[in-house]
Amino acid sequence: MELLDLVSQLEVDTPAANAVSPLRLLEIGKYLGLKAGQSVIDFGCGRGEMLCLWARYFGATGVGVDMDHSFLAEAATRAQCWAIADKANFVCQDVKSYELGAADFNVAACMSASMGFGGSGPTIRHLRRAIGPKGSIVVAEPFYSVPDAPNELREYEGACHTETDLFDIARAEGLEVGYYSRATRDEWDRYIFNSRKIEMQEFLQMPAGPAREERRSKLHRWQDMYLRYRQQWQGMAFLTLHPA
Ligand SMILES: C[S@@+](CC[C@H](N)C(=O)[O-])C[C@H]1O[C@@H](n2cnc3c(N)ncnc32)[C@H](O)[C@@H]1O
Repeated sequence: MELLDLVSQLEVDTPAANAVSPLRLLEIGKYLGLKAGQSVIDFGCGRGEMLCLWARYFGATGVGVDMDHSFLAEAATRAQCWAIADKANFVCQDVKSYELGAADFNVAACMSASMGFGGSGPTIRHLRRAIGPKGSIVVAEPFYSVPDAPNELREYEGACHTETDLFDIARAEGLEVGYYSRATRDEWDRYIFNSRKIEMQEFLQMPAGPAREERRSKLHRWQDMYLRYRQQWQGMAFLTLHPA
């Protein structure tokens, strides 16, 4: 397949439940030097975008854990379509109750799903238990670009670290940051509007009445919070972490 065909195929279909493009996910896999047969566990994998890409383009094998049945059904369908179903196994379970046993994954990831473990620190500690001494951790974490983000944003989004906090948390756990990048405006725009695509399509078909107006007001709140606050004061950080 030509590169341009690949890019357009990937970009039209935006399944990540996160402000991340498929190309960035591939870039992270490339940074890690992923190879055929290496193993990955992805906690809060959503629609399995990262695992499927890494299985398809690097030959990695993996487990994706999430508690959303519909997301996992989409992940399994994608894995079938890409003929990598033998490489990616999706498990519907709470991330905290997934039994790691004597786990020794090459890569343990949690992309924008640290709420499942109760925050960045507990997530990183859990991921560390899933890898061997030469393994790597991949996290995507939202951050506030300033320590004193507006109250309206804090009330809407809750507590959030700054970028420097994220580095400090990793270093306190004896981990070094290898790869680092942050989502672009384009990745945010696509994520924010794509994540309300179904609600918007339903709204456009709704008959006039209070239910329609209630839906309109919810959609406007989502869009306005993004345009007025999140775009300016919130980011998404992508880090690889390495025991050292
Ligand atoms: C923002 S989405 C990110 C999905 C995916 N990692 C990505 O980057 O596209 C957060 C995901 O975490 C999952 N999640 C949140 N808490 C969880 C928990 N306790 N156990 C399992 N999955 C959880 C949600 O179902 C959702 O799919």
